[in-house]
Amino acid sequence: MLTLMNNVDIIGRVIIRHLEIFMSLALLKDEGSASFTVKSHDSNNRLQVITLHEDSLRAFQDATQAWDVQAIEYKPFLRFAVAAALDQVCAGLLGPCLNDIIKNREQGAFLLDYQGIPSGDKADFNVMLSTAISHLIGVPNFDSMHGKFYARFTVRNVDNSDSYLRQAHRRMELHNDGTYVDERTDFVLMMKMKEKNMEGGNSLMLHVDDWQDRDTFYDHPLGKKDIQWGSPPSKQVAGKVFHPVFFEEDENGKPNMLFIDQFAEPQNMQQGLYLHKMGESLEQEQNCLSVAVPEGAMLVMHNHRWLHGRDKFIAHDGLERELLRQRGHFS
Ligand SMILES: [Fe+2]
Repeated sequence: MLTLMNNVDIIGRVIIRHLEIFMSLALLKDEGSASFTVKSHDSNNRLQVITLHEDSLRAFQDATQAWDVQAIEYKPFLRFAVAAALDQVCAGLLGPCLNDIIKNREQGAFLLDYQGIPSGDKADFNVMLSTAISHLIGVPNFDSMHGKFYARFTVRNVDNSDSYLRQAHRRMELHNDGTYVDERTDFVLMMKMKEKNMEGGNSLMLHVDDWQDRDTFYDHPLGKKDIQWGSPPSKQVAGKVFHPVFFEEDENGKPNMLFIDQFAEPQNMQQGLYLHKMGESLEQEQNCLSVAVPEGAMLVMHNHRWLHGRDKFIAHDGLERELLRQRGHFS
């Protein structure tokens, strides 16, 4: 009964919040100010699609023209100024909207795109925009693979790295990020910088509450027992960390997850088979979403309530895809 009342209360607050945002946006439109729109993704009600209108893009570029990518790499506080500038051109509505979505368990993810073509270097603009979005939600963690608060990497037809991250012809299995580091990884941001000769390669997403076998693994005796996690040399993270797959519950007692197949290091047969069956179940889950991310768009999700992966590509000699990634904790 209490759970039902809680759910009604949460749904009520979400509806009111959406009405507030809708009314504010309608007002903005009337006044001709910079704006954005929010709607559910065609394939799933949890995933929200946010579109920044061209006037927002222009106003954001005007407001940040004094700063370049090097400046925000060198001065961490400038990244917050960039975020504040974007929120300001959206009348202070974008930051609250993003936080409502990402922290609402029923949603927890958005696909953000923009209208219009940015002036100047498009890649630099994408770094600025992704930095604004990440700093409206929280603070990016240092990316030790790339030595910055963000990473840019390219997927090509042939790759000889030591994980599936850049291997095109494989499906990258569903996982959470940050399993082998000590710091919290509350959110993941993945932006499509550019792509050529791509066929396939959609982002894969599964909400923890939509995984039909979840409770079989959550209620298992190993569900809350520590597992050892490590990483290959390319990740530049030494040492091991220990935590359960279901490492915490949210404020309503629902499980948050921290799982990845490649970096779990089971120490006995029982752990090995538990994790193996978990991986098999996740890969067979029918509720997994396949989401196309256009160039310039970014997918941002709550890292402990959504698992993510990537579908395989069709082989092509000229295949090339550049991605930008930021992972961080809520502030
Ligand atoms: Fe990942």
